[in-house]
Amino acid sequence: MSQLDIFDSQTPQFSNLDQLLDALMSMTDDPLAEAGTNVVISRGNPQAKTLIIGEAPGPQENIQGKPFVGRAGQLLDDILRAVEFDPEKDVYISNSVFRMPPGEGGKAFRKPSNHEIEYYRPYVQEMIRLIDPIILLLTGNVACYSVLGQTGITKLRGNWITQQSCWIMPIFHPSYLLRNPSRQPGSPKSLMWDDIREIRAKYDQLTA
Ligand code: URA
Repeated sequence: MSQLDIFDSQTPQFSNLDQLLDALMSMTDDPLAEAGTNVVISRGNPQAKTLIIGEAPGPQENIQGKPFVGRAGQLLDDILRAVEFDPEKDVYISNSVFRMPPGEGGKAFRKPSNHEIEYYRPYVQEMIRLIDPIILLLTGNVACYSVLGQTGITKLRGNWITQQSCWIMPIFHPSYLLRNPSRQPGSPKSLMWDDIREIRAKYDQLTA
């Protein structure tokens, strides 16, 4: 599939972020509404120049109502802090899917389906348009599929894609790093370290 244009929003156009957040909070006909899980949208600073898009809320996020507040979120915050980004001030964090997909077979949650990702995509596009980031980070394949319509994170990660004035970089999902804790050269963790330093350098260059 060719790459989606992040500025080609097909959505109902919201005139500001609050309208978008209100529409999401009152959503009742989305594919995960019947699951009965909570709507979880964003955290951080809506004025930030960096937007991070993740996958979907997990159990902790479903309880607390904010994205990336469980173990993966703590690791994400540590990665940001390692290059002196303040997770409350320097980034805005959201997801590709706005409710936790309920698990099957004793599991608390599952990966969102393509149909679910596609349903929420127009809202993600509106989020991007309204936040208007100069740097957009896509954590893992679900975010890459949502925003770019493409997957293949091991090839995509670490490479900049530019669309208009936005610098987009796919990066590994922090949950993947939790499952692969090695720090050997070439390991996912060491590649993430390369990527976050590159991201910091680009941010400094773009905001100088
Ligand atoms: N993983 C995600 O991608 N998003 C969250 O909000 C939590 C875990």
